[in-house]
Amino acid sequence: MKCAQMNPRRAENTVLAANAAERENNNMRVVIQENYDKMCKWAADYIAAKIKAHKDERPFVLGLPTGSSPIGVYKELARMNQAGELSFANVVTFNRDEYLSLPHEHDQSYWYFMHDNFFNHLVDMKPENINILNGMTDDPEKECADYEAKIASYGGIDLFMGGIGVDGHIAFNEPYNSLSSRTGVRNLTTDTRIVNSRLFGNDPEAVPSQALSVGVGTVFDSKEVLILINEHNKARALAATVEGEVSQKWTCSALQRHNGAIITCDEAACGELTVDTYKYFLDIERTQRL
Ligand code: GLP
Repeated sequence: MKCAQMNPRRAENTVLAANAAERENNNMRVVIQENYDKMCKWAADYIAAKIKAHKDERPFVLGLPTGSSPIGVYKELARMNQAGELSFANVVTFNRDEYLSLPHEHDQSYWYFMHDNFFNHLVDMKPENINILNGMTDDPEKECADYEAKIASYGGIDLFMGGIGVDGHIAFNEPYNSLSSRTGVRNLTTDTRIVNSRLFGNDPEAVPSQALSVGVGTVFDSKEVLILINEHNKARALAATVEGEVSQKWTCSALQRHNGAIITCDEAACGELTVDTYKYFLDIERTQRL
């Protein structure tokens, strides 16, 4: 962890000054958990609480990611569902992204990932309520415009869960993507293809060079955004998200402008935070209910 920059007294006063409503609606939350399993449990409990509290006839609209970060959350949500503790009958999902040109049955398509890791394990998820961009479309622009329109037809997304790339990308919005971008085609950087090549036989060339992705603006139109950041290799991205300037270089930093942003992370990812920031969030979270 880096040395302190912010005055602890200021942090303390900020805590005292903030009332519960402000904390709920206006402050970025950073929920630090000891390890990956606890981070996932916290996130699953949070999502479950939000779904259960949703009493409208209108479905609860949940945005979902792929990647290794959310796997533990999916396991816990599926466990709750199978145990009869949580229903997905009134939940509509929208995934964040999909590789262009990978068919559903390809084991690295995000369609395959989502069914394999989550949807196939739910007892009451309605297939017609699952929305994933179609990477095999012959009209990507229309596919993306229709996706935005469909999200809007549900009145927007209630809670968008996500992971983050080591370069801070949100969905497939690589560095310098506009912070107000909408769903569209994205070119992937060499860095991202190298990182993701672990799932493609360690061959970066085997990773598709393009994807369909919701935009930063699409994610930030959601009422709440819950981002999972774990492991040492995400430490720079976590620091950029929480302490950095809001910039296109780190698309994750746009979270600072969102009124319902929650980051949950493990200790390992905190290595680039200043001591004051780290202590501040541990302190303020002590008085925060779920
Ligand atoms: C991919 C996905 C992102 C995801 C990121 C991090 O690039 N498009 O949506 O957040 O990977 O994945 P992981 O959780 O495996 O580190």
